[in-house]
Amino acid sequence: VNPAATGESVRVLREHELPPGGRRVVHALESTVALVNVGGRIFAFAERCPHAGGPLVHGRVSGAPLPTEREEYVWGREGRVLTCPWHGWQFDLESGRALFDSRVAVATYQVHVRDGWIEVSRR
Ligand code: FES
Repeated sequence: VNPAATGESVRVLREHELPPGGRRVVHALESTVALVNVGGRIFAFAERCPHAGGPLVHGRVSGAPLPTEREEYVWGREGRVLTCPWHGWQFDLESGRALFDSRVAVATYQVHVRDGWIEVSRR
């Protein structure tokens, strides 16, 4: 059975190999997948930026200004925004969508932690 085709989860790392603050790149599901642990929550996404192939695993994780109705500055999404280290495109870690244009996105994967293993599957 080919997990890439079935949507099945595949084990990629032991849980202790990706502690909070950790970053890793693995080959799984016929792709190069970056994993980051943000305060205990693990996100998985394609390692190459859709703009020009920058290494997203090295991107800064932060928040970003939220869209607002009026001329005010509201910071939000803390720990949910990934900034590409090459030219600064920003992506929502949950959906993979670019903040500046939701039609642009990086592939994201579902993450499960089971029996001490981190598993990923296609969405
Ligand atoms: S390669 Fe990521 S913003 Fe350009």
